[in-house]
Amino acid sequence: MRIVLVGPPGAGKGTQAQFIASQLAIPKISTGDIFRYNVANNTELGAKAKEYMDKGDLVPDEVTVAMVRDRLAEDDAQEGFLLDGFPRNVPQAETLKKMLDEMGVRLTVVLELVVDEDEVVRRLSGRRTCRRCERIWHADYDPPEHAGICDDCGGELFQRDDDKEEVIRHRLEVYREQTAPLINFYADEGILLGVDATGPVEEITARALAALRPYVR
Ligand code: AP5
Repeated sequence: MRIVLVGPPGAGKGTQAQFIASQLAIPKISTGDIFRYNVANNTELGAKAKEYMDKGDLVPDEVTVAMVRDRLAEDDAQEGFLLDGFPRNVPQAETLKKMLDEMGVRLTVVLELVVDEDEVVRRLSGRRTCRRCERIWHADYDPPEHAGICDDCGGELFQRDDDKEEVIRHRLEVYREQTAPLINFYADEGILLGVDATGPVEEITARALAALRPYVR
């Protein structure tokens, strides 16, 4: 299956992607995670992305598209993938379509996580991420047993630089202006599936997997 996850910052894309991808045995490809990895490791790509990420702006399309093209060419992505955070605007969606045409495949479905803005601000301001295994936690909604330490691997938890209140507000504006138009783009393509992304994480995963079931081969 070739799936795109779409939704505002904090909708739970990363949280759901880790469970859905593992259930469907496909790789999760998160452009945000790849950028953060490169920033943490001081690579050339990280240096290009950091200034945009810190402000909550989109990294320029040519940088992002080249990175995704390389990632989709890897062996583990040939039988399917779950894209989290890409595409982020209509030009990226059009480019993705061309890339997949060249590979002789199509997107199976686009899953939209539907949740309101007040909730996403609450979710983002409490988010904590494991430095070692990238598992996502929440200080109030999904806390680890010992504050600041990942239950899964013992890694240190950190708060993302772009999870400051003013940057969160800007990311939401960027979402409304640049990313939300993808909803109509994919609705017109006939491959959009909306899932209510409120309530407990496990219930949302179950809802998403139920919505995807007709497409699983
Ligand atoms: P990216 O990492 O993609 O950030 P985002 O889209 O803003 O999404 P988030 O990761 O903030 O939220 P999420 O929906 O994954 O929520 P999560 O599951 O963590 O991008 C970061 C930056 O990289 C961009 O700003 C841009 O600069 C750059 N970038 C990335 N892709 C790009 C592209 N294609 N083009 C250009 N630039 C790009 O959940 C949030 C919190 O809520 C967590 O704490 C979680 O525990 C909690 N939570 C989740 N579900 C629930 C629930 N049901 N109930 C309660 N709490 C919950």
